Formats: sequence, structure tokens, C-alpha cells
Amino acid sequence: MSDLLHRPRRLRRTDNLRALVRETRLAPEDFILPLFACPGERVRREITSMPGVHNLSVDEIAKEAAGAYDLGVKGVILFGLPEAKDEVASGAYHKNGIVQQAVRAIRKSASDLVIMTDTCLCEYTSHGHCGVVRDGGVINDDTLELLARTAVSQAESGADVVGPSAMMDGQVGVIREALDDAGFDQVAIMAYAVKYASAFYGPFREAADSAPAFGDRRAYQMDAANAREALREAELDEAEGADFLMVKPATVYLDILKTLREQFELPLAAYHVSGEYAMIKAAAQNGWIDEQRVMMETLTSIKRAGADIILTYYAREAVRTLTG
Ligand code: PBG
Repeated sequence: MSDLLHRPRRLRRTDNLRALVRETRLAPEDFILPLFACPGERVRREITSMPGVHNLSVDEIAKEAAGAYDLGVKGVILFGLPEAKDEVASGAYHKNGIVQQAVRAIRKSASDLVIMTDTCLCEYTSHGHCGVVRDGGVINDDTLELLARTAVSQAESGADVVGPSAMMDGQVGVIREALDDAGFDQVAIMAYAVKYASAFYGPFREAADSAPAFGDRRAYQMDAANAREALREAELDEAEGADFLMVKPATVYLDILKTLREQFELPLAAYHVSGEYAMIKAAAQNGWIDEQRVMMETLTSIKRAGADIILTYYAREAVRTLTG
């Protein structure tokens, strides 16, 4: 007879026992699907570094969003590739901007879907930076006004949630005030509170055509080495009126997610970004890993660390796996 008292393996013996003691469960409601709107009609252009992700014209994005909703995805977040770019990002806050058109079209094709918009300027500026550039630098306070206009314009087109991601100081407060003044006190703010200057955004910059023409984003996005600073960013955004906090990227910042979960009460989102998606895709296409299992394990780790909501290019596949 064995004298082992503790045998954790007892609860791992069968599928049903394992399910009974499972601590973290992914659900279809957890996911937000990012979509990229582009000019034209019947355009579905696959992004080379993100297999399965496309630039979609407005007619196509309406179909894509409705298809995702039918599958069980509850929300999308929209990015835009404008017809033209300029120094002041006019396309970001134009009444008929590409994202504004996409929001209206999706509202028609899937009226109950939660529609979020990325509120940033980098896709719309000729230089690819997230704000107004002067003397080689991004000018914080001049940028705030343009971000506020962008958020209001996105709300006017029907967005439920705006997602300021430019990492300008004070952006959440200025946007909250502008939304309220324009009568949009019910439009929520998902603050990209903790956004690191990350090499994992590489494929996105191909998808959104938003790589900076000079320099990088390290003067406004956070240094990957900093954890205490993440708390400070989150505190500021909470104080300025954020409705959700976000950490981005997700998997290489799980420690940050866990800390934020412990210290804040707001709903917490994590963005599983383009590079994180591309790495899984690339290895899977080589036959080196089991894509579906790596996907689910990765998404589970993000939820286990504390995320309530996961923005991921795998949203549809994850929902399909959970409901299939
Ligand atoms: C806009 C923005 C970026 C991402 C989301 N919003 C790019 C960046 O900051 O360069 C990246 C998303 C991804 O990599 O999937 N500022």
C-alpha cells in the first residue's frame, strides 16, 4: 500500500473530472474581432503576414461582421485605411471617413453587434505617427483635439465604444468631455491604457499601412521593461473616465494583466496583437505546431492572467472551437 496522501492526479483521470475542476473557461462572449476597412467595392485583400485577415471594403466588412455575429462573436473593433493621408489626419474624423462608413454599414448588417472603433491617427497621417508632428516630435496637446474630434465622429456614426490608442497624455479625459458635450454620454471608452512600444505590431502596420515614416513610437508608447509605470497609466485613465482598461500586447505581458486585474475594478481587456497571431500562424503553416490547440492554450492563458475581454484575430476560430 502506498503512503502517498496527496494525489492531484485523481482529479485529472477523466474528461468530466477535469471539466469539473477547471478554473478558467473561455466563452464566446470573451472575444472581439478586429477588422480593417478599406476603400473600394468587393475588395477582400489578404494581409500577407496575417493569413485569414483581410482589408475589406465597406460592403465586404458589413458581410464579414454579420457573419462573425451569426457565429457568436459579440463585438468587433474597426481600423481604417483612408483614401488619402495628410499631416492632420483628416480621414480620421471626416463624416464620411472609411471607419465612419464601415460603422454605419455594420450597424445595418448586424444591428446588435457591439461596434468598437480604434481612436488613433497613425492610419490617417502622411508620416504614420499617432499625432501631430512638429520639429520631428509628436506634439501631445495639439493631438488631443484631433483625437477628440475623431472619437465624436465615430460616435456620430454609431459606435458603441471608442478605443483611444495613441498613448497621448490626457487623451481619455479629453475624449470623455468631448463625447459628453456632443450628447454621447452613453458611448463608452475602452482605454488602451497600457500599450507598450512593441515589435509585435509589425504585421498590423502592413495591414493598416501605418508604419511611421521616420523614427519609432518610443516617445509615446511604453517601454517594455516597465511594470510600475503600467499602474500609473491605468490609474490616470481610470481617473479620466475610462470604462475599460486594456493591456497590449497580451502574452508577453501576462504579468501586467495579472497586476491590473488585482488592483483595478474596471473590466480588463487584452489585445492579442498581430505579431502574436502571425507567429502561431507561421509555425502552424510549417506543420510545427497544432494551431487550434496552441490558439486555445494561448487565449486561456490570457484569460487566466485576468483578462475579461480578448481582442484577437482568432475570435471566429475560438468561438467556433467553443461552440462546435
Ligand atoms: C494604432 C494601433 C496599433 C495597433 C492597434 N492600434 C499599431 C501601433 O501602435 O503601431 C496594433 C495592433 C496589432 O498589432 O494587432 N496606434
